[in-house]
Amino acid sequence: MTYLYLDLEQELQQQIRHGALPAGTKLPSIRQQCQLRELSKATVLHAYQRLEAAGLITARFRSGFYVCAQPTGRPLPTQPDVTSSPQPVDMSDLMRDIMQHSAAFDICPQAGSYHELPVGITELNRAVARSLRRQKGSEHQYYDEPSGSKQLRQQISERYNRLGCRLSAADITMTAGCQHALSLALQLCCQPGDTVAVESPGFYGVLQLIETMGLKVLEIPSSPEHGIDVDALGAALEQWSISACVVTPAFATPTGALLSDDSRRKLLRLASDYDFMLVEDDIYGDLTFDIRHPPLKQLDQEGRVILCGSYSKSLSRELRLGWIVANQSPQLMRLKMVNLLALSKFTQQGLFSFIQEGGYDKHLRKQRLLLQQQRDQLIDALDQHWRPLGDLRVSQPSGGLSLWVELDPEIDLFSCYRLAREQGVIITPGNLFTAQDRYRNCLRLSFAHLWNRERHSALSKLAELIYSTI
Ligand SMILES: Cc1ncc(COP(=O)(O)O)c(C=O)c1O
Repeated sequence: MTYLYLDLEQELQQQIRHGALPAGTKLPSIRQQCQLRELSKATVLHAYQRLEAAGLITARFRSGFYVCAQPTGRPLPTQPDVTSSPQPVDMSDLMRDIMQHSAAFDICPQAGSYHELPVGITELNRAVARSLRRQKGSEHQYYDEPSGSKQLRQQISERYNRLGCRLSAADITMTAGCQHALSLALQLCCQPGDTVAVESPGFYGVLQLIETMGLKVLEIPSSPEHGIDVDALGAALEQWSISACVVTPAFATPTGALLSDDSRRKLLRLASDYDFMLVEDDIYGDLTFDIRHPPLKQLDQEGRVILCGSYSKSLSRELRLGWIVANQSPQLMRLKMVNLLALSKFTQQGLFSFIQEGGYDKHLRKQRLLLQQQRDQLIDALDQHWRPLGDLRVSQPSGGLSLWVELDPEIDLFSCYRLAREQGVIITPGNLFTAQDRYRNCLRLSFAHLWNRERHSALSKLAELIYSTI
């Protein structure tokens, strides 16, 4: 006996598994599918629900059913076994050199990119220019209000509220990017000498802040599959006390991990039980290939989460616009005024009207598809140029901008950095993402750029160089 829902389920399952329906594809609506195949609504719904339960498709609110990213079966980087005591951070000069040259995410900066600006960025630039042209009277003689443009803050709060948060414009303070927001967040909850827990491997910008603020770092293992190991954090908290934990729940750099709802709840419980603040870096939240996940802040009942974000990765690094959502308003205002005084009113106005006209969502839709394609192209290129040479483990992020790549344990990418640089290839070796001597056989590779001939050749040159050193 055959079941109609099973026929439909199996057909779609095969198409998804064989790539005929790639991640992000919208399935016909239930009504369309009923008409196309002359099936009942209950049959189609049953098949869709089973595909959803198997993790093959996902329902997006008021939009329909979409194909999810599928695991490819390639080996994933191993879970780091890091259990360290809190220690000061001391970034070496070579590390600083790497940061200056490679934080740009591009393996081959001279390779150029698309010939023309993406349409979304042209529209954004026009909106900012328009706002500047409309400057009148003596506006140029006044600073922006300390917390930043009210209409932009209102807009950011509404976008978060659509994800289930309960924010108002008054909860948000505009900053000069996410690094600035993270800096303010740590200043709000730490005193010199305090300990901050971070993901390991984790964002080097946070390690730099910890170093310059005279704090200590507690590195908690983080994997591409699960993100920060919340149980390891719990075990560490039995021994050491911390003032804050910095996490990137959505597509952390460099692992690309997405933290599960369960881990998010456990993190909040730990923060409450051990009385520390969670500093959430949501910079990659909008760069999802699937549905936009609510931030950790959405689950925050006790005001334990300081939410930081920015438009640097999802729109333009040139804007230098980010935000912080924190409770301690007078203290935050004081810190911000000391650090920065004010932001540009016109950039904020231009950005606001670009978003209001729908330009940001249109840009995001295109950007997500493009990034997904570029991620797949990078994985294919690694399969072609690197896999034949040795052990290769690659993360499979469902958002963000980068892959975490693990090579044979005897490879030292930190030593390869200068050699590669001499050949015009810039890499971000793994030990940039820790304050300890770890991850030398790992690196972060970004798929933010077009995979043209020059970048392909840089990748293959890099593989030769790396494997010639062992
Ligand atoms: C995880 C993460 N947070 C924050 C930043 C800094 O962002 P912004 O340019 O908005 O200061 C970066 C930039 O690389 C990042 O990767």
